[in-house]
Amino acid sequence: MNDLDQLEKQLLDEIAAAGDEAALEAVRVSALGKKGSISEKLKMLGSMTPEERQTMGPVINGLKNRITDAITARRTELREAAIAARLERERVDVTLPVAKPAAERGRIHPISQVIDEITAIFGDLGFEIAEGPDIETDYYNFTALNFPEGHPAREMHDTFFLEPNAQGERKLLRTHTSPVQIRTMEAKKPPIRIVIPGKTYRADSDATHTPMFHQLEGLVIDKTANIANMKWVLTEFCKAYFEVSSLNMRFRPSFFPFTEPSLEVDIQCDRSRPGEVRFGEGNDWMEILGCGMVHPNVLRYGGLDPDEYQGFAWGMGIDRIAMLKYGMPDLRAFFDADVRWLEHYGFRPLDLPTLFGGLSS
Ligand code: DAH
Repeated sequence: MNDLDQLEKQLLDEIAAAGDEAALEAVRVSALGKKGSISEKLKMLGSMTPEERQTMGPVINGLKNRITDAITARRTELREAAIAARLERERVDVTLPVAKPAAERGRIHPISQVIDEITAIFGDLGFEIAEGPDIETDYYNFTALNFPEGHPAREMHDTFFLEPNAQGERKLLRTHTSPVQIRTMEAKKPPIRIVIPGKTYRADSDATHTPMFHQLEGLVIDKTANIANMKWVLTEFCKAYFEVSSLNMRFRPSFFPFTEPSLEVDIQCDRSRPGEVRFGEGNDWMEILGCGMVHPNVLRYGGLDPDEYQGFAWGMGIDRIAMLKYGMPDLRAFFDADVRWLEHYGFRPLDLPTLFGGLSS
């Protein structure tokens, strides 16, 4: 084998062994660059005799052309392999469902949604939101609401009591949102127009009761507030909340220590279709809240003179009206933190309920 054949074989081996374009370029420079092995051979043509040049010219140029072609072919091969590898790496399975961004996947819990809806409605009627502590004293939860010591109504509340402190005072988890009535009367002068959404607690658990639940309390105090005003406010609320244009309500006499007279309110509904309740139509009634004129003793406990001020109040279960509006059959599921339940019953986070934009659209 002469040295040109040997050079050709060596270069072809190097070309075949080049693993990427940079290695291939190094081989090209070593053969065809200014000082490359083939370039050196070409330079030698100049110092040859015309006869030698005639035979060696085509031989060396032939070698140069074959090596150039081999490099071009290997480069194409390397590029295609690189593209194929990248496509494999970046492969997308178009049959997979599109993953939604977190802001679209998250859901607002129906209780939060209903509190937002209620707030929008009462905000529109000119009410403010008031809040109070979940851990209450016996005084605010019972005494100041005109529950006399030892009165049986205290027992009906299935109260969770905390351990007594050093002074023997036993705090409790508030059994209703009504203590915030007293706290508000102590903090501001009438006119008072507030709603109080919040957590409440009673030792009770079945399909429609959980130990923690939510209430919405309302309180209006001024010099002339009366039952007709109360009836109007509650009717407007129920129409807006249940998104119906008219709704009959029935007021029945009842008893609460903190109101006199006390009433329970039923709303008109239709239960003739199985598994469905419609409001604002039909011949059935469903109880949804308790209310009444604030008892003079409660005004006194709140630091107001009952000869100067009067007012009305109501309380209702938020969980219950959420179940009624959105058809959720079991209250316990509200607090199970099951993502599948939340995906089904939850609300899209950016759809804020407003009266002009729609409450539950
Ligand atoms: N606090 C009562 C309860 O939890 C509900 C209630 C009834 C609140 C009548 C009121 C009211 O303000 O006037 O059962």
